[in-house]
Amino acid sequence: RVSPGTGSFIVIDRMTNVTVGAGMVHRMLESEPPYEYRTHDSKAEVVWNRSSVTPEMRAHIKGHAGKCIWFTGLSGAGKSSLANALEIELNRRGYHTMLLDGDNIRQGLCKDLAMSEADRTENIRRVGEVAKLFADAGIIVITAFISPFRSDRAVARELFTDGDFIEVHVDTPLAICEQRDPKGLYEKARQGKLKDFTGIDSPYEVPENPEIAVNTDVQNLEDIITRIVRMI
Ligand code: ADX
Repeated sequence: RVSPGTGSFIVIDRMTNVTVGAGMVHRMLESEPPYEYRTHDSKAEVVWNRSSVTPEMRAHIKGHAGKCIWFTGLSGAGKSSLANALEIELNRRGYHTMLLDGDNIRQGLCKDLAMSEADRTENIRRVGEVAKLFADAGIIVITAFISPFRSDRAVARELFTDGDFIEVHVDTPLAICEQRDPKGLYEKARQGKLKDFTGIDSPYEVPENPEIAVNTDVQNLEDIITRIVRMI
């Protein structure tokens, strides 16, 4: 029944009339979203349905909390390779992980998006939200997206509590990425056959305060992975 802030009740056995239980309302289940979601635009008609099983309860079953390891850097910097190697290592150690990779997500969830600034912002917004859902499920989610804009990465970070969003700047110099050119895209961009290419005719905003910065040109993969795992 409707109960004020500190309402109480008793439970009576219908057969014997004996009082078999009593209770007091000490806390109302919030109908408001948890703090980190409140900053978002949402329609007045949409309320936050709070689930009874909390992220902490899900994490408890897994034996570890959910987190987001966010790789950012130029195309060809080595984000996907590092993300993959990190997932292998975490999986080997018995952590429950999920990998979200730019090229893959752009073939499904974000296949309606191109490479304009607005589309990249929307791409990263979606990825941040999906990463947050995975983290709330108790999963260590690893993302590998260029995510060139500081403000977009900040929006993703804000979804997480402090310490649960680890930004890894894959700081491989443009010249090296271009030399590697694993997909031949830099060459196409230089020839003007591919527009809005990051580092060529679309900006990459270097992270100012990443938790970790790595350079795949001068550091080896194992050392980088060890450093990241230690941070987690
Ligand atoms: S992001 O900027 O929105 O974060 P995302 O990581 O999803 O980019 O996708 C980047 C991938 O798309 C690159 O690895 C590359 O294979 C491909 N790609 C195609 N066109 C471009 C472009 N104009 N700029 C950068 N990457 C591109």
